[in-house]
Amino acid sequence: MTHFLDIHTTSPADLRGIIDSAASMKSARAGLPKGTPDADQPLANHMVALIFEKPSTRTRISFDVGVRQMGGETMVLSGKDMQLGHGETIADTARVLSRYVDLIMIRTFEEQTLLEMAEYASVPVINGLTDRTHPCQIMADILTFEEHSGPIKGKKVVWSGDGNNVFASFAHAAKQFDFDLVFTGPETLQPEAALDGLYTTERNPNLAVQGADLVVTDTWVSMHDPQSARERRHNQLRGYQVNADLMSKAKPDALFMHCLPAHRDDEATSEVMDGLRSVIWDEAENRMHAQKAVLRYCLGR
Ligand code: CP
Ligand code: NVA
Repeated sequence: MTHFLDIHTTSPADLRGIIDSAASMKSARAGLPKGTPDADQPLANHMVALIFEKPSTRTRISFDVGVRQMGGETMVLSGKDMQLGHGETIADTARVLSRYVDLIMIRTFEEQTLLEMAEYASVPVINGLTDRTHPCQIMADILTFEEHSGPIKGKKVVWSGDGNNVFASFAHAAKQFDFDLVFTGPETLQPEAALDGLYTTERNPNLAVQGADLVVTDTWVSMHDPQSARERRHNQLRGYQVNADLMSKAKPDALFMHCLPAHRDDEATSEVMDGLRSVIWDEAENRMHAQKAVLRYCLGR
């Protein structure tokens, strides 16, 4: 069974294969209307369940459209409308779903839910974000970086802001794809200790971005964070906003990324988001191409 649960649990060779396959699938359909079927229809006759226990725009639509382009069928399911949200165990849900569908993608809260789904499903499971990681996002980010700036190996990536789930997948990717990752953010929002050794820390954002090939940020309040923490987080993170002044201290050709959704003029200014170094729309588009390659990998197609 080939799941796609995290970047660090997928081998560097498999990750590279996924990125290369995504790039070639993307170029094969350049300029075609979005609903045009892919020539080879690798997911013909396949059913895919997309389960969401949290909101989503990009993950939901990019998986849905991607599966359809590949010739498969999707079911987009809200966790709270399933018995899963009313006491049925994850293990039983996994066993039942495996009798109906060929692959399960789940966005959930606790990582344990994802891991249990994978343990008890007899079909591949893909991580569509948990409180801890967001591997599909980072596959899209690597694809986007390499389209614009060439191989990411040996490059310097700087994360400014909250040491959250998206950062965690970047940290896993730094090891697997062999790039340097610097975290700049307050000590109170330092990434979890399990990620120690995968990145370095520089508290001063102006020093951190020096020599950066890519500057990345994300929302200051994630879906799993209590809204009551909003004001405190904003106060802690204000100094880590990605603005034109900060970008000017990175390499002149440094890219800017944000997984979106953004709170404009909080974690990044509109000037940066809409500026020449921003690749956020390619990044969003590439969710679909990267995930199509992940689907192929999981299903051996
Ligand atoms: N970046 C991302 O995963 O976006 P959604 O929450 O809209 O899926
Ligand atoms: N860190 C954000 C990412 C959203 C795609 C969250 O978990 O809410």
